[in-house]
Amino acid sequence: MNYNHTSVLLKESIDGLNIKKDGIYVDATLGGGGHTCEILKRAIDGKVIGIDQDDYAIDRARERLKEFDNFTAVNSNFKNIDKVLNELNIDKIDGIIFDLGVSSFQLDIPERGFSYNNDMPLDMRMDKSQTTTARHIVNGYDEEELTRILKDYGEENWAARIAKFIVQEREIEFIETTGQLVSIIKKAIPKQVRQEGSHPAKRTFQAIRIEVNKELEILETTIKSAVDRLKHKGRICVITFHSLEDRIIKNTYVNLNKDCICPPEFPQCICDHRRKLKIITKKPIVASDEELNENRRARSAKLRIGERV
Ligand SMILES: C[S@@+](CC[C@H](N)C(=O)[O-])C[C@H]1O[C@@H](n2cnc3c(N)ncnc32)[C@H](O)[C@@H]1O
Repeated sequence: MNYNHTSVLLKESIDGLNIKKDGIYVDATLGGGGHTCEILKRAIDGKVIGIDQDDYAIDRARERLKEFDNFTAVNSNFKNIDKVLNELNIDKIDGIIFDLGVSSFQLDIPERGFSYNNDMPLDMRMDKSQTTTARHIVNGYDEEELTRILKDYGEENWAARIAKFIVQEREIEFIETTGQLVSIIKKAIPKQVRQEGSHPAKRTFQAIRIEVNKELEILETTIKSAVDRLKHKGRICVITFHSLEDRIIKNTYVNLNKDCICPPEFPQCICDHRRKLKIITKKPIVASDEELNENRRARSAKLRIGERV
């Protein structure tokens, strides 16, 4: 089967990078290679480094982009951005893009265990070499921890009740599959209060996926490291897909845009923090009606662009 990923906010993000013909660019979330391909078409005398923690994405992107000899794919977590660039003997870069979250093919390959539409082993790892899977979290976290992640990462109003039902059910038998988890969630959320048009398991699956892949914990430090690597006037583009991610990006940009981040009650500055980033998008860019008609995944996408000062 041929799985494809339609790139989101493609033109807006690539335009946002202000690509120079001979620039060095990083796509920190290579995925299907859609954004990288557009960067390569513009940076014809430059270099593009694509990073992904999923080896399947790396293999596919290498195949798709084999005609470009100025492209390097690196199988790593983007939190290792400094190590990746050091190993390639690259000091400063002209731009970096993050298109966060999962790719369509991760969701569409049932065996990856990301989707609530199939009955498959609970997995959800982007990096298949890591040991923690969704199965460990669902069967191993205590009720309080489960409630916290469903609340914090899924913004699920029924977090406590879903966590309680998970703990009750797993005392009877181990929860091994996405299908088992979906039926527990359906039991926990009364039918009459379920949101129309939204699958009852959507928020829980999002929360567990974020926890499995530690998606939010590394964001702020990675964005800061990436900005430190930008040349003067180099650009950073970040596309997010839910409010938690977007809030982290927004706040990180705001802090990087400040000269001092001391608490207001401090009589004088002791932080030595210096402004590094100019915020180009005062409000995030969202998908056009045209894109929304063609790609449902673009509905929640937000693009924030910054420029190194
Ligand atoms: C939305 S897709 C990117 C799609 C790509 N921009 C395109 O147009 O084809 C996100 C990709 O980022 C990868 N990813 C997510 N978090 C990552 C991380 N912390 N480090 C490296 N790759 C990550 C995922 O494995 C996935 O392949």
